[in-house]
Amino acid sequence: MHQLLKNDLANFNHLLEKTKESSKQYLDSIEQRPPATGYLKKENPGIPLPGIGAEKTLELFLKRYGDAMPASNGPRFWGLVTGGTTPAAVIGDWLTSIYDLNLSHAANSVAPDIEMEALNMLGELFGLPASFSGTFVSGATMSNFSALAIAREWIGQQSGKSVAQEGLQAIPPVKVLSCEAHSSSFKAMAMLGLGRNSLKVIARLPENREAMNVVELRKALETLNGEPCIVIANAGTVNTVDFDDVQAIAALKSEFNFWLHVDAAFGGFAACSPKFKHLLNGIEHADSITIDAHKWLNVPYDSAMVFTRHRDLQISVFQNSAAYLGPISEPVDFIHLTPENSRRLRALPAWFSLMAYGKEGYQDIVERNCETAKLLGDRIEASKEFRLLAPVRMNVVCFTLSGEVTAEKVKTFLADLRDDGRVFMTPTTYLGTPGIRAAFSNWRTQEIDVEIAWQAMLDCVKK
Ligand SMILES: Cc1ncc(COP(=O)(O)O)c(C=O)c1O
Repeated sequence: MHQLLKNDLANFNHLLEKTKESSKQYLDSIEQRPPATGYLKKENPGIPLPGIGAEKTLELFLKRYGDAMPASNGPRFWGLVTGGTTPAAVIGDWLTSIYDLNLSHAANSVAPDIEMEALNMLGELFGLPASFSGTFVSGATMSNFSALAIAREWIGQQSGKSVAQEGLQAIPPVKVLSCEAHSSSFKAMAMLGLGRNSLKVIARLPENREAMNVVELRKALETLNGEPCIVIANAGTVNTVDFDDVQAIAALKSEFNFWLHVDAAFGGFAACSPKFKHLLNGIEHADSITIDAHKWLNVPYDSAMVFTRHRDLQISVFQNSAAYLGPISEPVDFIHLTPENSRRLRALPAWFSLMAYGKEGYQDIVERNCETAKLLGDRIEASKEFRLLAPVRMNVVCFTLSGEVTAEKVKTFLADLRDDGRVFMTPTTYLGTPGIRAAFSNWRTQEIDVEIAWQAMLDCVKK
């Protein structure tokens, strides 16, 4: 064994203590750190010939990057839709690396049991019937990708074909219908050979809504004359957290032949609260569902789930048969259910966090995030400096600057706000107007954070 590896093996406990110390220092300063920082654009030093050992590497890392590490997992990173990491999730993630289990095979570890237990708890949290089975993937984009891959297989099945076996050339071009599909669904369509342009946009409901007009969907389905297609419904749009009427869309299944995919990347967490749960009515009729874990579940990147009621088709797409891997048998190994073969035990942080905080803990996070979003919305509504672009429906505040607003003005304001260091938000365009999104999905966020952020917003808007 190389001497440096030998030393580190002998010093493993000491190294873990050092790592714990630096983690503690970071966590103790999370309230003071800016939520976001830009690229440092440092010169790349290249790989050393003799290494320097783990302890010196930790010291070097902290010197080089430690102070610049932002608090994007802190209470005031309100850009994109960004969750933090609960204490229990940190334990689960640390242990994931310690055990370093590969999920692919049930024959050599308990990892699949842990993933199944976590998925079972998640199914309960989201109120999904037992007909759904889930798998962990790396994010909602991969979840949308996996779901649409299974949907594509279903389309083939309608005419006795298997796209997984015969390729896309075996079937006519696949039609996908959606209203405000997340950009990641277009990316998934590009990766699956369906093509971004195959998505037909269904009109929204009038009056400041981002939800699908189901009457228009019906018309579009009628024009297909019985040809099977895919409908992507949204449960939580990124700009204004609007929900499609999944119940009404699912009801059309009795008349038209379509696969219903619901992108509930963060809106799926509406199920955690009696106040919001009705927004997901009908989701049990979906064929597949995307829900992210690194957003509102507050586990570390990268983690999400894909749920489907068509595991047979999922196996058709993702099966990975080889003599050295053995035949496919029950319980089906995850290697036959996801795009990856080998993958980490990303279910463990979820398992820890779900056990540690339970249904009530997640209800608290969801409701508290929505209440703080509402507080910010109320301030904006009552102010002369800003104006709301849409009602605050759940955890995202979509607003803009008062007066004549341009993308440039929004950009300057947001850059000043980031550099101020108290809060971070990201830009958007809503119904043609340049706007700003403040998205709340971190377990740490409290009322005081709205106070701090509001002061920063006023200071920066006056610049
Ligand atoms: C509705 C929706 N779907 C999909 C995604 C993509 O998620 P990820 O970045 O985890 O791939 C997002 C991200 O914000 C989202 O809000």
